[in-house]
Amino acid sequence: MRLMLLMCLAWFMTLTCGSGDKRVRVRAPRGSKWWSLAKPGEVSNGLRAPVRKLYNNPSLLPLTKRQRRLVTKNPGAVMAVVSGARMAIDECQHQFRKRRWNCPIRFEGHRSSIFGKIIQKGCRETAFVYSITSAAVAYSVGRACSQGTIQTCSCDNRVHSRPSGEDWEWSGCSDNAKFGHKFSRKFVDVLEKGRDFRYMINLHNNEVGRVHVSNSLRRQCKCHGMSGSCTIKTCWMTLPDFRSIGLALKDRFDGASQVLPENSVRNRGRGKRRFNFSPANSLHKKPGRRDLVYFEDSPNFCDNDSSLGFDGTKGRECNHSSLGVDGCDLMCCGRGFHTEHYVVQDRCQCIFEWCCEVKCKMCTFNRTRSTCL
Ligand SMILES: *[C@@H]1O[C@H](CO)[C@@H](O)[C@H](O)[C@H]1NC(C)=O
Ligand SMILES: *[C@@H]1O[C@H](CO)[C@@H](O)[C@H](O)[C@H]1NC(C)=O
Ligand SMILES: *[C@@H]1O[C@H](CO)[C@@H](O)[C@H](O)[C@H]1NC(C)=O
Repeated sequence: MRLMLLMCLAWFMTLTCGSGDKRVRVRAPRGSKWWSLAKPGEVSNGLRAPVRKLYNNPSLLPLTKRQRRLVTKNPGAVMAVVSGARMAIDECQHQFRKRRWNCPIRFEGHRSSIFGKIIQKGCRETAFVYSITSAAVAYSVGRACSQGTIQTCSCDNRVHSRPSGEDWEWSGCSDNAKFGHKFSRKFVDVLEKGRDFRYMINLHNNEVGRVHVSNSLRRQCKCHGMSGSCTIKTCWMTLPDFRSIGLALKDRFDGASQVLPENSVRNRGRGKRRFNFSPANSLHKKPGRRDLVYFEDSPNFCDNDSSLGFDGTKGRECNHSSLGVDGCDLMCCGRGFHTEHYVVQDRCQCIFEWCCEVKCKMCTFNRTRSTCL
C-alpha cells in the first residue's frame, strides 16, 4: 500500500514537474539511463570513490534511486555494471557492423538514450538492445563475483554439490551466473513497470538476454599431475566468452517473433516476466523464453531520420563484391557508391630468424574502399 502511494506520488510529481517542458516526451525511459555509465573517462574514474560516498556520487546521476541503492549495497558492483555496459555496446556494434543499422552510440545529451530513439520503438533492433544490455550486466556481475571484486558475492560453488564424474571432481571457483541473473533483474528491470505493452515486450527481451547467460555456463576442467599426465582432473563452471552470447542473441534477432499488441497479452503470473504473447502469424509457434519478440517492423534505415536519431547509410563503407547486406547495393539502398583505390605499405614475407628475430620486407598493396553516396 505504501509502495503504491509512493509510486503515485512519483508519477504525480513527474507530471507536474514535467508539464510545460515539451522535451519531456523525447526522454529515454528512465530505467535505461544507466547505459550512459559506459561513457569513457570521467564516469568510471569518479566511481572509484570510497563506498560510503557512492550513493551520492555525481557519476551515478543517470541511475534511479533504486539502482543507486542496489549498487551501494553491493560494493564493487557498479564497476561491473560499467564494464557490462561497455561490453554490450562493443558486442552490439560487432554483431551489427555489416548491417545498415550498426548500433550507433551517442554519449552527448542527457535526455535521450545513448542508443538513440530506436529504444522507444518496438522493432527487432530494440529487442536486441534490451537483451544484450541486460545479458551483459548479468554476465559481468556473475564474473566479477568469482573474481572477488564484489563484496556481497563470490564463487557459486553450490553447483559443486552435484555428483562429479568418474574421472574428475569439482574444485575451484565457478562463475556466479545466478547472482548475476538476480542482480541484473533488480538493476535492469527496475523501471520497466506498468502495464504498457511496450514494457512487457522490453521485460521479456531483458529476460531473454539473461536466460542466454545463465544457460551458457559450461564445465571447464584442468589436469593436474606429472607433466602431461592427468592423474587428477578438477572441474568448475565457467561463463563462455561474451562473444558467443552476442552471437546467440544475434541469431535470436534473425529469428525474432513478431507478436500482436495489447489485448492479446496475458501475464502468466508467477514472476512478472512471463507473458503470453500471441504470434502475429498464427501459423508460427508462440515465442518461448529464449525468443526475442517485437511488434513493429523495422524502418529501412536508409536515410537520415531524426525521429530515430539515425544518420542513414551515407558515407558507410560497403563491400562492392558482396551480394549480402554489407554489399554496396543493399547497404547504399540503391543510391550508388563511390570507390577509391589506394596504395598501402605493409610488412610482408616475414621470416623467423634464429634466434629470435622476425624479418619482413615492405610491400605495396593496392586496396579499394567503397562508400555509400
Ligand atoms: C541528419 O539530420 C539532422 C537534422 O535533420 C542534422 O542535424 C544532422 O546533421 C543530419 N545528419 C547527417 C549525417 O546528415
Ligand atoms: C567482400 O565480400 C566478398 C564476397 O562475399 C568476401 O569474399 C570478402 O571477404 C568481403 N570483403 C570484406 C573486406 O569483408
Ligand atoms: C597496383 O595498381 C597499379 C595500377 O593501378 C599497378 O601498376 C600495380 O602493379 C598494382 N600493384 C599491385 C601490387 O597489384
